[in-house]
Amino acid sequence: MTTADPIVRIAGLRLDRGGRNVLRDVDLVVPRGQVVAVLGPSGSGKSTLLAAITGELAPASGSVEVLGQPVPRNQRALLELRKGIGVLLQGNGLLTDLTAAENVALPLRTHTRLPRPVIDRLVAMKLHAVGLRAAADAFPRELSGGMARRVALARALALDPPLMIYDEPLTGLDPIASGVVMDLVRRLNDHLGMTSIVVTHHVHETLPVADHAVVIANGGIVFSGTPQALQASTDPLVRQFLDGQPDGPIPFDSAARHGAAPHATEAA
Ligand SMILES: Nc1ncnc2c1ncn2[C@@H]1O[C@H](COP(=O)(O)OP(=O)(O)OP(=O)(O)O)[C@@H](O)[C@H]1O
Ligand SMILES: [Mg+2]
Repeated sequence: MTTADPIVRIAGLRLDRGGRNVLRDVDLVVPRGQVVAVLGPSGSGKSTLLAAITGELAPASGSVEVLGQPVPRNQRALLELRKGIGVLLQGNGLLTDLTAAENVALPLRTHTRLPRPVIDRLVAMKLHAVGLRAAADAFPRELSGGMARRVALARALALDPPLMIYDEPLTGLDPIASGVVMDLVRRLNDHLGMTSIVVTHHVHETLPVADHAVVIANGGIVFSGTPQALQASTDPLVRQFLDGQPDGPIPFDSAARHGAAPHATEAA
């Protein structure tokens, strides 16, 4: 593929889960080099969309192309494609009995036959990239939440993926750590020549580093444009989400649109 080809191209996508339709009529093109924010209320289908990009969930209809090819359904081909996608999930997923360096080394040990000294060098570079070279020998329990998130980020970067996917990278972080992580997302994207998709409901921390924003609500994409255009939007659906209002076109409890429990007041 040429550098002008988008890294993700989604057309007419419909995704169902547990026999229920979650997203429909989704069209999305992610050009190379961009940081794209995917925003939307809880339960709107953001993680579901990511699952379609990583091939974990097959489309009910429509197409998903990643890194220039349709996402394969064959397991072997899928594993190969996934080497090109760095994924950071909200739980970090660090192994507690391994040091930071050993955690970062894991994908290199699993997916390459590089000799030990080369792996050590690559691990040191990745930890340096997230500003944590000094923490190489620390165990996850010895790290702050923000540091642990950065180690997980270094591990996601280990195989130099052209595409990075972040699902709620700021969960559980204070505003300072959030700023550090989002700044890293942007800088790593640009310095390592990656493309990044950031799923989050942390609108105000994410928009400043994004090139493009997409809002998902009520089963589809309700906004796609620049962060500036998003901030200026007068669409009631978009405003309700941005301004955090419980009443409006987005039902507070997603079950409400299926006719159940419309008056629930606590998030599950
Ligand atoms: N494995 C599953 N089986 C059945 N339904 C699911 C499954 N995973 C998610 N869903 C449903 O799909 C819908 C979208 O969920 P999803 O996790 O994609 O939302 P989200 O936007 O990522 O929410 P959050 O911000 O809370 O992470 C929800 O109604 C959820 O209940
Ligand atoms: Mg989610």
